[in-house]
Amino acid sequence: MQKIAVLTSGGDAPGMNAAVRAVVRRGISHGMEVYGVYHGYEGLMLGQIEPMNAGSVGDIIQRGGTILYSSRSEEFKTEAGQQKGIDNLRERGIEGLVVIGGDGSFRGAQKLSDKGFATIGIPGTIDNDISGTEVTLGFDTAVNTVIEAIDKIRDTATSHERIFVIEVMGRHCGDIALWAGLSGGAESILLPEVDFEITDVISRLLEGNKRGKKHSIIIVAEGVCPASEIAQKIKEEAGLDTRVTVLGHVQRGGSPSAFDRMLGSRLGAKAVDLLRDGQSGKMVGIQRNRITAVDFADVFGSKHDIDLDMYELSKTLSI
Ligand code: ADP
Ligand code: F6P
Repeated sequence: MQKIAVLTSGGDAPGMNAAVRAVVRRGISHGMEVYGVYHGYEGLMLGQIEPMNAGSVGDIIQRGGTILYSSRSEEFKTEAGQQKGIDNLRERGIEGLVVIGGDGSFRGAQKLSDKGFATIGIPGTIDNDISGTEVTLGFDTAVNTVIEAIDKIRDTATSHERIFVIEVMGRHCGDIALWAGLSGGAESILLPEVDFEITDVISRLLEGNKRGKKHSIIIVAEGVCPASEIAQKIKEEAGLDTRVTVLGHVQRGGSPSAFDRMLGSRLGAKAVDLLRDGQSGKMVGIQRNRITAVDFADVFGSKHDIDLDMYELSKTLSI
């Protein structure tokens, strides 16, 4: 395989640039020509495909976001859109594609592979909602961003003896909430995967209040409900002074952590090696610190499970 391409798709994530850099430079080390596809699948269909060299990916390992831009494209869900993408690649003699993105992007990658175009996926999403890998690229940085915010909010929560409800991203997955809540010392963590009663949350707040604990941090994953709903119930039923912070897209940016820079570098290199070895239809991932390859079919066929032991631990530690 002499010519390959790389694209980033779906929600961007810190570490994607480290992965792009690794794909380009690993490919060059194998004597390949490497192309960058700009604006994800949208750009693939439009033929926004440019040759890359070692210098194209210089000074980006520390940058969040993606130098290749990203997109969400309904048209690529069509056969015609997918075929257009393949035609644009083949016109340039490109024989393999690395797709850096989340679950949705991998479904697009699978369609290309099913059509006979060699494709390898790198799990790049802050949500950590992809099975087949212990962690996705960007998750570690996002959790660190959230705990920095929690630490800052805790300062003002203690000063004014207030309850803060902080909403975090994750789509339908609670991992950002769980990891940041536990490491941020939140008093309550509300996850889409675990049923809860708001009356229990309020009881914990009131018991703490009686013990003199006048401030609390409640983390709610966006897949549960808007933080404002939780805050409203606390105000109505407990009369406690409550404020809301929705962290939003702050969690998607920032310079990637050392972990995510390493992960992006390792996954990018492995993806190129798999293409060179004639593989397709697989996602690279990390299991017990080893870089692995999992068929897309197995990724789609199983669900990422939240660590309920960690959830139980959070309940015993934040009292
Ligand atoms: P993520 O990759 O972060 O999960 P999305 O779910 O938005 O983000 O998917 C990114 C893009 O992948 C979509 O905008 C679309 O272009 C493509 N895609 C998603 N699902 C499919 C599918 N079933 N078939 C083909 N392409 C898809
Ligand atoms: O998938 C990553 C993510 O940040 C989710 O956590 C969030 O729900 C979604 O993307 C936001 O999508 P958009 O960037 O299109 O607003």
